[in-house]
Amino acid sequence: MTGEVKAAAAALTRGELVILPTETVYGLAADAGDPAAAARIFEAKGRPRFNPLIAHVADLAAAERVAELPPLGVRLADAFWPGPLTLVARARGEGGVCDLARGGLDSVAVRVPAHPIALALLAAFDRPVAAPSANRSGRPSPTRLADAVEETGGSAALALDGGDCRVGLESTVVSLLGPRPTILRAGGVTRAELIAIAGPLEVAPGEALRSPGRLALHYAPDAPVRLEAAGPRDGEAFLAFGPTAAQGPRVWNLSPASDLREAAAHLFAYLRAADRGRPAAIAVAAIPEQGLGEAINDRLRRAAGYLG
Ligand code: TXA
Ligand code: MG
Repeated sequence: MTGEVKAAAAALTRGELVILPTETVYGLAADAGDPAAAARIFEAKGRPRFNPLIAHVADLAAAERVAELPPLGVRLADAFWPGPLTLVARARGEGGVCDLARGGLDSVAVRVPAHPIALALLAAFDRPVAAPSANRSGRPSPTRLADAVEETGGSAALALDGGDCRVGLESTVVSLLGPRPTILRAGGVTRAELIAIAGPLEVAPGEALRSPGRLALHYAPDAPVRLEAAGPRDGEAFLAFGPTAAQGPRVWNLSPASDLREAAAHLFAYLRAADRGRPAAIAVAAIPEQGLGEAINDRLRRAAGYLG
């Protein structure tokens, strides 16, 4: 274990916050069993307290101490952990995730992140770690250390540098509370990948079944966002996808090769970069609604304020 990871585990034990790299986005981490530490997270993010946090653990055995995973949950865990999948199941009372971290629910969200530094910290700390994305509530998630420090660094005792996040989108959140699994938030594991393991999913009838706290204006930069744009208008920044005639200092290409994985990895960083130039708006090219495109479009629609 490196000295940095050791120092981070000690900070968590003292009830302090730590900026934690994961493969999806940077998290703002605290001891999930410590209500005062969880309260610090809500305060640092300006996050409504009814919006529960994800408990991060080192492996499946640790997840089963936190949540009552049904057999399907174990199959999904075997298939996707460590990785960008969060499972929502009934909480174990003695599971070490406090009421406040669970947003007062009797369910709990749990995941094993696929990042060596996160796994080293979870092994060293040996208890569940609550970690929402390290942005201020409603802002794009940070996928680079500097962005995480800019957003919430002032509230953290220390920040662990894990480089740029490989996936770039948050984990897929799947509820196992009903008869069939339900996607509460599209993310780094695609619908098709889930169905290959879990079979048919419950179709959520709308926002009602979605995760608490998924507000319309979420993942939003300061500039307005204009979707399915063929190109930038005067004064606009432009996020292209695939071949484009647009060029200049306000143009970023999410993926010149039209690769959704690459686009996902760049999305939040480029939204931030475009926003820094204070454009009239950020125009974004159409992204196909397949594979990771579902999660990319979910974030973009929310950044544009379209979903309620
Ligand atoms: O990739 C990720 O998931 C990142 C990294 C840091 O792990 N974390 C993250 O956390 O995105 P956060 O707090 O930004 O998003 C957690 C999502 C929220 O939409 C929340 O409502 C949902 O998970 N959630 C947490 N507990 C839940 C529960 N018991 N029932 C339903 N949804 C839950
Ligand atoms: Mg978040």
